[in-house]
Amino acid sequence: MTTPLAVALDVERIRKDFPILDRVVHGDKPLVYLDNAATSHKPTQVLDAVHDYYTVHNANVHRGIHVLAEEATALYEGARDKVATFINAADRGEVVFTKNATESINLAANVIAWAAPPLGLSPGDEVVITEMEHHSNIVPWQLVCERTGATLRWFGITDDGRLDLSDIDRVITERTKVVSFVLVSNILGTVNPAAEIVRRAREVGALVVIDASQAAPHLPLDVQALGADLVAFTGHKMCGPTGIGVLWGRKQLLEELPPFLGGGEMIELVTMQRSTYAALPHKFEAGTPPVAQAVGLGAAVDYLSGLGMERVAEHEHAITAYALDRLQAVDGLRVIGPTTPDARGAAISFVLGDLHPHDVGQVLDELGIAVRVGHHCARPVCERFGVPATTRASFHLYSTLGEVDALVAGLDQVRRFFR
Ligand code: ALA
Repeated sequence: MTTPLAVALDVERIRKDFPILDRVVHGDKPLVYLDNAATSHKPTQVLDAVHDYYTVHNANVHRGIHVLAEEATALYEGARDKVATFINAADRGEVVFTKNATESINLAANVIAWAAPPLGLSPGDEVVITEMEHHSNIVPWQLVCERTGATLRWFGITDDGRLDLSDIDRVITERTKVVSFVLVSNILGTVNPAAEIVRRAREVGALVVIDASQAAPHLPLDVQALGADLVAFTGHKMCGPTGIGVLWGRKQLLEELPPFLGGGEMIELVTMQRSTYAALPHKFEAGTPPVAQAVGLGAAVDYLSGLGMERVAEHEHAITAYALDRLQAVDGLRVIGPTTPDARGAAISFVLGDLHPHDVGQVLDELGIAVRVGHHCARPVCERFGVPATTRASFHLYSTLGEVDALVAGLDQVRRFFR
């Protein structure tokens, strides 16, 4: 069949920036990488920035007066400026660097739980999440609820893979202190209606935390327009290195919240009796930070901004629409999640007849096609849809329609293999 062209991005040119996409696997099979929700690849611009940092500038930050220390500090803080601009933060001090989105959410959950009244969690308070969350936005809230006596509640999922907000006024109530939800589901692909949830949370005075891990790499992210209090995401899914995440928070709130980890760099003055804390964002960045990783994330943000996130989103929307059409024409294939491309991200989970996803993934791998199989760290979603696991194909800015065709052809081979 003829593959239609996606025109929002010059994908052939973009692919030249990602050396790993030229790899062959299992002898002579060109790599078809469809595991972008797990991690994205890194363009030469990011690899070079990290290499250059270690080769020429390497030093600890905020601690030295020598040339290298000043250069490293300028690069690290410059990366913060780039991220702040990328997400339209009102103030660079609102951008806290962490290890990953998981750490960002754990930070958020713990400091909210520990905060002095009227913040803080205690028995009688409620935290609302959703059944669609990644484990990283479930377990931290379970832990703080167990430790404070607060109650955890959640929104369910409709049969078509959307959040069931039909009883939003009964789930988010005057008892709700925090609402935390995923903006784009890593397993279903659903883009959630943030404005509706934020509006209800505001009515009852609850804090709003958003997991934007699968949004920041794929859509324009404007934290001010989003209207949340805290937003978490990770670098490695957005063409940056592993080991770097971001927690954005409203400045006034971050100032009110207590520190998370204690140690060097997060202090103002330490005596043997007590300590005072550094100004934002350093209050939340204890110890030597991930400097090279932040520099790499800064380069990734430059790269994505250079392409334009509107165009990235448009490209991925076209790929997702095409993939949904083609996959749903495969005999016995059931998409788990929204079956149309509206309000939908670029991750598509599916089951193929009664084949176990691990078998599907293994045969696809032998053909050079990398997908993720399992519960995708969102086990409650699998339980909701009555499946032990799914196969997930997930796309990014360098994905092509030809790769979707390769996946569909691969699934035909899977079916023949197990016939
Ligand atoms: N959260 C990542 C995924 O969905 C690891 O695969």
